[in-house]
Amino acid sequence: MPIHLPAALKRPFWRILWEVRGQRKDLMASGGLALLEVSYLDRAVAHVVDTLRPDPARDTVLDIGCGVGYAMRSLAPRSRHVSGCDASSALVARAREAMQDVPNAEVFQAEAARIPKPDGSYSRIVCYGVAHYFPSRAYLLDVLREVRRLLTADGLAMIGDVSERGKYDFDIADQMGPVRRAVYKASTVVIDTVLQTRFSRAEFAELATAAGLDAEIRDQPADLAFHQSRFDVILRPHRDA
Ligand SMILES: C[S@@+](CC[C@H](N)C(=O)[O-])C[C@H]1O[C@@H](n2cnc3c(N)ncnc32)[C@H](O)[C@@H]1O
Repeated sequence: MPIHLPAALKRPFWRILWEVRGQRKDLMASGGLALLEVSYLDRAVAHVVDTLRPDPARDTVLDIGCGVGYAMRSLAPRSRHVSGCDASSALVARAREAMQDVPNAEVFQAEAARIPKPDGSYSRIVCYGVAHYFPSRAYLLDVLREVRRLLTADGLAMIGDVSERGKYDFDIADQMGPVRRAVYKASTVVIDTVLQTRFSRAEFAELATAAGLDAEIRDQPADLAFHQSRFDVILRPHRDA
């Protein structure tokens, strides 16, 4: 039986960690990806852009958990308008700085479960690499309800890079020597089970339905960093909802 940190402790733990990471100058460290090359991040951003396929003439895009705003820089020229929000004030400051010369972009501080924008504000929503920091299943349901509220009737959302329950982020361990690999795997088991919140595909689909969304669960492309232990969810408003 795996040990989980209670939701009441997970929330402050990750909040503090993301404020600390937001102070790191190195791009990958401030995204919590210190063990990866920038090319992994570029492939993830290309995957997001390719999935959302925004129309620059009409689509308004929201990036939930935008971090330093790296994906926003690729989304802005392909969208009518792009908003980014993040719970971390340090990362909001970084994203604002990165987007200051981009006229069709804005960045604001918000929790994924409570986004201060009117109903139907966005035709595309992405939340990539964030769900495992949600404190609980109940929090994910609140996020999905918020996505449903914010989406236009013909809108599309992607909750991407969701950590799958029962799997571990071991993919990159193959690139390590035996000692480093053993340490990495042991610490990953602790982080993935105790600190992160992982979801099964079935429970994710069930929560999406409860939020009034149709969910399509997809495997990740094999060139992404943790494709063996993560999945993507494509969401559309349920027609009768
Ligand atoms: C791994 S980074 C991903 C950043 C970006 N989406 C990307 O793919 O590069 C996770 C981000 O999610 C943010 N985050 C974590 N929990 C959040 C929450 N409950 N609401 C909003 N943002 C959150 C963190 O502050 C951090 O910037």
